[in-house]
Amino acid sequence: MTHTSILSLLGAADLSLAPIDVTAVLDRLVQQADADAATSIGFPGAVDLDHSKVMARLGSRLWNNIGDPADPGGTAHTRVLERAVITWVADILSMPADDRWGYVTTGGTEGNLAALHAAYRRYPTARIYYSTAAHYSISKTAAILGARSVVIDARPDGEMDYAHLAAQVRRRRRWPAIVVATAGTTMTEAVDDTTRIRAVLDEYGAGGHLHVDAALSGIPLALDGRLRLDDAGGIGSIAMSGHKFLGVPTPCGVVLIRDGVRSHSSHVAYTDTVDTTITGSRCGLAAALLWHAIATHGREGHRWRVSEARTLAAYAVNQLTAAGWPAWRHPHAFTVVLATPPEQVRKKWLLATDGDTSHIICMPGVSKGQVDAFVADIAAAAPPRSIPQSRLSPQSPTPPLGTDCLPMPSTDRHGGEFI
Ligand SMILES: Cc1ncc(COP(=O)(O)O)c(C=O)c1O
Repeated sequence: MTHTSILSLLGAADLSLAPIDVTAVLDRLVQQADADAATSIGFPGAVDLDHSKVMARLGSRLWNNIGDPADPGGTAHTRVLERAVITWVADILSMPADDRWGYVTTGGTEGNLAALHAAYRRYPTARIYYSTAAHYSISKTAAILGARSVVIDARPDGEMDYAHLAAQVRRRRRWPAIVVATAGTTMTEAVDDTTRIRAVLDEYGAGGHLHVDAALSGIPLALDGRLRLDDAGGIGSIAMSGHKFLGVPTPCGVVLIRDGVRSHSSHVAYTDTVDTTITGSRCGLAAALLWHAIATHGREGHRWRVSEARTLAAYAVNQLTAAGWPAWRHPHAFTVVLATPPEQVRKKWLLATDGDTSHIICMPGVSKGQVDAFVADIAAAAPPRSIPQSRLSPQSPTPPLGTDCLPMPSTDRHGGEFI
């Protein structure tokens, strides 16, 4: 929403002024969101799924899944759908049926908190390792838990630097390690290699816990068979967002934790539920929306969505580079990383920007027409200033033929190591 439209809405929405034209305020919000939608390709929310059936039938009452998904009681709740969602996601991740537990969260952030809370209760002296490309919810979670963090370098393409991880784990081998891998980093959609991370932990006998923050890429990579929580992989937990790949129209997510990692929780007498989750009351509507999105498309339907979105992302890279604008993507990614365009293009297309680089995300529902219009705006803009050779990384992903490679800077937003 633009600054001017926020200001005009603020006046109309001021609750100290009566009478308020409620319909006009709500209509204005919808109009603005509709207007933004045509150029909203900077953030990862799928827009191809129709959730209206659930909203129409369930949207006007409270559905509260308070307590554990396995709890039977309470008034209007959707725990039966929540359990089905958890089972489906755990199944596509090949998680052992006898060692899995999870619930529908408020989003990826709560999933990270729930998983790292469980891991830290199990290993209270652990150091929490994550890369500079990890989402800010990880450093925040470590701070909430009062845990010591160790920030690991990320390569310019966003993937963790495993040699740096090994060096840091070796220095602290007397303490257990909780390592957070990211499957789909926020800026470049890089995927950390959990096999290499597990090998580092095994080499230094650091044991501990491996969590995967898969907010964006969890379901796509699971459908590829590339992300597995089977016994061989040694991953203890995973968190995903539900409003990203599944495009659910309310923030939500799924967390899955190996059952053996969880600690015991208390029974709450007045709700007659078990307190296993981070929040108390939990949104049953979100569970129903997730269930509906999965039920109406199934594995094959969602695989098709992944493949269409990747095809569009590859097309976007080709069109940008053909227009002389440096751009690249990881082979599995919906995210296209490009040299930061001039301000008017950034603002119009609501781009996520980090210094020299920006990205667009070709989520399911983004159209070829939108990509073409974006590329036309880019082509009409000033050519990008050249990127210094020192910023080009030998470890950058191999770009498609004829594609310039523009790596991400390695940003250490957390000021390095916290020990
Ligand atoms: C890698 C990663 N983790 C976690 C999150 C947070 O997810 P949510 O907004 O669902 O809390 C994001 C959001 O963009 C993310 O990119």
